[in-house]
Amino acid sequence: MRKKITKAIFPVAGLGTRFLPATKSIPKEILSLVDRPLIQYAIDEARDAGIKEFIFVTSRGKGALEDYFDGAPQLEQSLRKKNKKGLLEELKRSTMDSGEIVYIRQREALGLGHAVWCARRLIANEPFAVILPDDVIAAEKPCLKQMVEAYENTGGCMVAAMEVPPAMASSYGLLDVKEDMGALLKVNGMVEKPDPQDAPSNLAVIGRYILTPNVLKNVGTLKKGAGGEIQLTDAIAMEIANGEDVYGYRFDGQRYDCGSKSGFLQATIAFALARPELHDELMDFMVQTVGQSRAAQ
Ligand code: G1P
Repeated sequence: MRKKITKAIFPVAGLGTRFLPATKSIPKEILSLVDRPLIQYAIDEARDAGIKEFIFVTSRGKGALEDYFDGAPQLEQSLRKKNKKGLLEELKRSTMDSGEIVYIRQREALGLGHAVWCARRLIANEPFAVILPDDVIAAEKPCLKQMVEAYENTGGCMVAAMEVPPAMASSYGLLDVKEDMGALLKVNGMVEKPDPQDAPSNLAVIGRYILTPNVLKNVGTLKKGAGGEIQLTDAIAMEIANGEDVYGYRFDGQRYDCGSKSGFLQATIAFALARPELHDELMDFMVQTVGQSRAAQ
């Protein structure tokens, strides 16, 4: 029997400079799509995939994240008094049991590979998942769950994959595909943020990973890679060089890059339109606004 994936690392140490000044005093992971913080989408997806231990790699100024997952007895009491059952349920989703969640700090911003490596002692010798909360994926079956199911047959390392326009290569890790089996791909190599002319394909890594503990050992031996940072992509590519299987998984779902303003706004609109109580009013507003904007051009 393959070991179940029960631990997930959430790298949340980034400064969120693209969302300044909003992120001057709140972590970007608390920025909300409609009324739910980005981090809540990541946690919900992890839970649906069977994750039981949530490991946050944080940095200075991320205290609001810890408060967010804490119990809120006064608030709960007041909602109970007012019989606000729906809101109480929502609050429950954001509350973590004691011991379910761990926070460790990345002391220096040395890159994604280094951030994940900071959790090495908590991972010990188990396969684990990594979720980048900036990548929000709307899907009937949550993306990580799709991957965990595929992993039950493959083992090895697996990364979520998606086609991106060639000009966008330098924003992603790109896959060199050895064997295309439909949703599943076997990977020959991976390159972090190549120049578009050097990209091995237009299949990009999206922020969901299932990794073997050996990847963490690899990080320990890495030199600085793209952008002068210790890259997770390079540590996974080392596994391929070691003769291990690495897979890409073309997930079903719509991914929003909530690390960019445009992606964040698109996600906000899409998630709001999916709410029956907001749909009609928002549609009317958008039709009117688009009309006015076109007429003004
Ligand atoms: C990270 C990874 C990159 C991946 C991307 C997906 O980059 O390093 O390989 O393609 O996430 O969102 P970042 O966006 O943190 O620069």
